[in-house]
Amino acid sequence: MTMTYYTLGNSGLRVSRLALGTMTFGKEWGWGADRDTARAIFDAYVEAGGNVFDTADLYTDGTAEAWLGEFIAERGLRDTAVIASKFTMNMQPGNPNAGGNGRKNIMRAVDASLKRLGTDYIDLYLMHVWDRLTPAEEVMRTLDDLVRMGKVRHVGLSDVPAWYAGRAQAIAELRGYEPVSALQLEYSLAERAIENEFVPFGTRHGAGIMVWSPLAGGLLSGKYRPAQTGNGRLDGFRNSTHPGFQKFTQRNWAIVAELEKVASEVGRSMPQVALNWVATQPGIATVILGATTLSQMHDNLGALDFEIPKAHRDRLERASRTPAPFPYSYFGSQIQARVTGGATTGDKPPNYVSPVLIEGESASVSTN
Ligand SMILES: NC(=O)c1ccc[n+]([C@@H]2O[C@H](COP(=O)([O-])OP(=O)(O)OC[C@H]3O[C@@H](n4cnc5c(N)ncnc54)[C@H](OP(=O)(O)O)[C@@H]3O)[C@@H](O)[C@H]2O)c1
Repeated sequence: MTMTYYTLGNSGLRVSRLALGTMTFGKEWGWGADRDTARAIFDAYVEAGGNVFDTADLYTDGTAEAWLGEFIAERGLRDTAVIASKFTMNMQPGNPNAGGNGRKNIMRAVDASLKRLGTDYIDLYLMHVWDRLTPAEEVMRTLDDLVRMGKVRHVGLSDVPAWYAGRAQAIAELRGYEPVSALQLEYSLAERAIENEFVPFGTRHGAGIMVWSPLAGGLLSGKYRPAQTGNGRLDGFRNSTHPGFQKFTQRNWAIVAELEKVASEVGRSMPQVALNWVATQPGIATVILGATTLSQMHDNLGALDFEIPKAHRDRLERASRTPAPFPYSYFGSQIQARVTGGATTGDKPPNYVSPVLIEGESASVSTN
């Protein structure tokens, strides 16, 4: 296969279009892979030309970072690897400053991650979740300090409201801090909410989107059925109220049914079609793959070797499209006609290429 690389947002960092997620490295959370399987998944990803490794301090209680650091060191890949890690989550019960996005926790968390990873810098350090409290000024100033200290190369935000991301980027630009290069967000055929705000923000203001749960936690693999239990991760959450795992809805079953038909007609697996769709949507820098077995990883690594024909893409679009909420529902042609005074105008001449779009152009690098 040929792995291609995009620059991440407005940064000069090149990231492969498929990233390796490590939330499944370790069995601490009940649904991950053992060490040998995790290493085999890592090896398969590296051999396919992937260079982005996504982890977090919290994942499998620290095991994910520790194994990732060991696997990278064993293969001598530190210079090649783009390590993304995150802070926010608290792993010290009773200590409120060992979590959240305040300066004290960020400084503590980065040192703990560096130690577990066995490295002296993190390529991309992300705020994991908005804590609904700490001002963006404090977060961006602290992240900038980490870049100047050499502990971090680039910075990003995950699971934040779009207004917060916009504010954080404006603060960084106006105060000369390291800008937000990446937004890490849930996106898939089953979860398209980011299209309204984050995609326009990211493409206009220099933040590449790293997609998490591109298979909706495994739902889009097709192995789940409405009235049938199996042994995948989502089965363990059928009675849970965790917001990340509520996937068994009527709407989602209809999407799965259409995806199954499309995949069969295109001659590809359902995960490959779902991953290809999300990777080729606007604004996407890289798609983070999750796997618990080597065969899943092999399947998923084939996701970019084909194109979804337009007619099939249109069918996926119709099955998964969500109605635009206000104010986006308000911006249609009737309002535009009032804006332009009825004159027919295009945004740009046909040969105009936006400088923002140039940032996302691919630099194709063949790996075999
Ligand atoms: N920033 C955040 O808040 C955040 C949140 C979540 C994840 N993430 C990152 O994103 C990564 C990916 O997330 P995710 O694991 O939720 O992704 P996902 O692709 O939606 O789900 C992956 C799961 O689906 C199943 N699966 C994957 N490939 C399959 C295949 N080919 N056939 C059948 N089943 C398959 C496996 O679970 P089973 O074997 O158990 O069925 C696998 O663990 C994580 O590792 C993490 O790095 C970030």
